This record gives sequence, structure tokens and C-alpha cells, in this order.
Amino acid sequence: MDAIKKHFNASLIKKIASKFGTPIFVYSEKIILDSIKSYKTAFSKTDILFCYALKANSNNSLCSILAKKGIGADIVSGGELFRALKAGFEPQKIVFSGVGKTEEELNYALKSNVLMINVESFDELEILKKVASKFKKIANFSIRINPDIDPHTHKFITTGKLGGKFGVSLKEAFRMYEYSKKFKFLNPIGMQVHLGSQIYSVKPYVMAIDLILAAIKKLSERGINIKYIDIGGGWGVDEIRGMRPPAILAKAINSKIKHLSGIKLIIEPGRSLMASAGILITKVLYKKKSGDKNFIIVNGAMNDFIRPALYGAKHPVYSFSRNKKKLKADIVGPVCESGDFLAKDIELPLPENGDLLAIGSVGAYGQSMSSQYNSRLRAPEILLKGKSEYKLIRKRESFRDLIYKEVRLP
Ligand SMILES: Cc1ncc(COP(=O)(O)O)c(C=O)c1O
Repeated sequence: MDAIKKHFNASLIKKIASKFGTPIFVYSEKIILDSIKSYKTAFSKTDILFCYALKANSNNSLCSILAKKGIGADIVSGGELFRALKAGFEPQKIVFSGVGKTEEELNYALKSNVLMINVESFDELEILKKVASKFKKIANFSIRINPDIDPHTHKFITTGKLGGKFGVSLKEAFRMYEYSKKFKFLNPIGMQVHLGSQIYSVKPYVMAIDLILAAIKKLSERGINIKYIDIGGGWGVDEIRGMRPPAILAKAINSKIKHLSGIKLIIEPGRSLMASAGILITKVLYKKKSGDKNFIIVNGAMNDFIRPALYGAKHPVYSFSRNKKKLKADIVGPVCESGDFLAKDIELPLPENGDLLAIGSVGAYGQSMSSQYNSRLRAPEILLKGKSEYKLIRKRESFRDLIYKEVRLP
């Protein structure tokens, strides 16, 4: 709450809301730059490449802030590759993850000279071999290991447990690395894990690194030299207090890898670089009571910000009202789903209809997961630069945007 007050000046927010309407996403450039700085400082003694996970927020202007600071990109689709290149990320700082890359996407990645492709199955390796041989292009790849480690987070954002769809077992990975030796266009250079999101302990990372270190030792004995250890993203962001200091993570990781030479660490932060930088401004439409429960109905909804509905995520709500009288209520949107809520059972100054509320920590997995469900127009985005300057970085959609790709039959 304090972070919202500190970084998002109330009168400026009101001005932006009246000029561009609501709901609207507002981001602070300063918070993004501060997050980059704290990662860089924490890992200053490590040979490291930061690859921002574009899925967290792929807005061109926001991505270009990161690209200009020398950050790389972690992408999971041809669309994200296109966005990454447009935003100015250097191809040799791009890693391509994802369980279902198509032949066309692999082709696009090879042609774009990305640093490496994080292969997630034997079948994918076969297709990569086919594409690479066809274009006579060396495919630098890593294999995403499923280390069967529980990061103790929400089940929808746990990705490193066996029985899930991500990565392959170590045994399968060894088979794949061995297989690649037979083909000159396949070049194994990395090993990757991504354990999940919202991880608050270093323990799962340390366990994964131990596993990787043992595996790359075995691989080097078999003539396969791994140059990149990619530990994925997932570093937690407390919705109220912001990012956990990356120094904690750096200390734990460095203690494991400082003796290595010729190996670069890759880390793929998404949420931790962007979440705290964004707020969603929404307007109170109505208030009502159902049984004992109070509802504040706002014009932002699950289509704008789905995390509370999808994961039960709890985000801070800041009220711009100064009313001394308080109200305990659910903050809900106009979407026709009982699951459409932005916050539940929170206490806030009783707002007047027309007052603004800010939902905090929405910079990651906010706009990028938004949709037009209920034929609602996706919200615009604003970037705050300095104390009073702001720029529109995405326009609000129009009704025409809802149907312009639809084909009307005669
Ligand atoms: C492969 C990969 N890397 C990095 C990330 C980023 O995770 P986070 O936003 O939690 O840092 C994800 C998120 O799903 C991912 O799938």
C-alpha cells in the first residue's frame, strides 16, 4: 500500500484516469530500473545473463527498457520472439523455452540466431535436428530437466515436478544429449530448469543446481561440454512488500557455482522484474449488499486482471477516498462469472461511486493475461517517467477491435 502511495502520485493518477479513462494499467519506470539494478548488484560477481521472461509483460516500451539495460529475453512462442526482436533484445541473449514449439517456430528461432533453444522432449529434438539440417544451421540447444523438486507454490505455477508436462527426466536428458552427438547440426550447450513461480525459498534452487552440477560433470566425462546453466525464473514477489531481495538468491547460487570456470549462469526472472512496477486503476461503479456481504462493483474485471480469480492471488487495493468510514467488501467486476473478483473481504475507506481504486502488483501477468471475455475492451497502458511525465504505451481497444478479424458470412 505504501509502495503504491510512494511511487504513484495520487493527483497524477487522477489526471491520467480522467484523460484516458479506466480501467487502465499504470507502470513506474523507476521501479523497473530499480529491480534491474538490484538483480545486477546482487549478481555482480557472477558470470550471468538475465533473460527476462516476456510472458510476464511483453509491452514493447516496457521490454525496450530492459533491452537497453543489456537484459536478454526468455521467450515461449514465435509471437514472443517477434516481440523480443522488435523491442531490441539482442538475438544472442534470447533463450527459447516451451513444451510445444512448432517446426515453424524452431525455424524462425534458428534464422534469428537466438542463443539457445531449451528443448523439452525427444520428439522436439528430432524436429530441431530436421529443421537445422534442412537449413544447414547449427542448432545450439539446452535440455530442460524436470528435477522433480517441489517449490511449494500454487499447483498451477509449479513446473518442476515429475507428472507435470514440463521438461524431461535426467535419464531422458542423457539419452537426448548422447543422441545429439551423432548429428553435426545439433550442438548441446546448456542445461535448464524452471521450477515454478512465486518461490520464496532458495532451497529448491540449490537442490536443482546440485543436480545440474552432478549431471554436467557426467556429461563432460562423455565429451559433452555444457556452457550454460539456466535456472529459470520464479523468484517470488510478495504482493504487498514487493520482490524478495535477489541478493539472497545470489548468495545461495554463488556458493554453489563460484568454483566453476567457463560456465555462464542464466536466470529468467519475469514477475520479480515487473510485478511491483504496475497498478491497475479502476473506478467504483456501484455498491450493493447480498446477504451479509458487501460488494464494491468496479469497472475493472477478471478479463483485465485474472490472477485473483485464477490462483486466488491476493493483491493490495489502495483507495483514493479519504472517507474515515470503513467498509469490508469484495471488489468485483462486471464480468458474468461468480469467480470475477479482484479482492475478497478487504477493508477500505467507504468509497463514493465514481471513486478510483488501485490494485497493486499487477505489472506481471496482468495485461499479458488479459482478454476480451464478455466482449470487454482491453485496457490501455501508461508508463510513468520521473515524477510527472507519463506516456501512453498501449491504446485502449475500440469496439471495432472486437470484430475486425471476424469474417461475416453472407
Ligand atoms: C521457462 C520459464 N522461465 C521463466 C519464467 C518466469 O517465471 P516468473 O515470472 O515467476 O519469474 C516462466 C514462467 O512461467 C517460465 O515458464
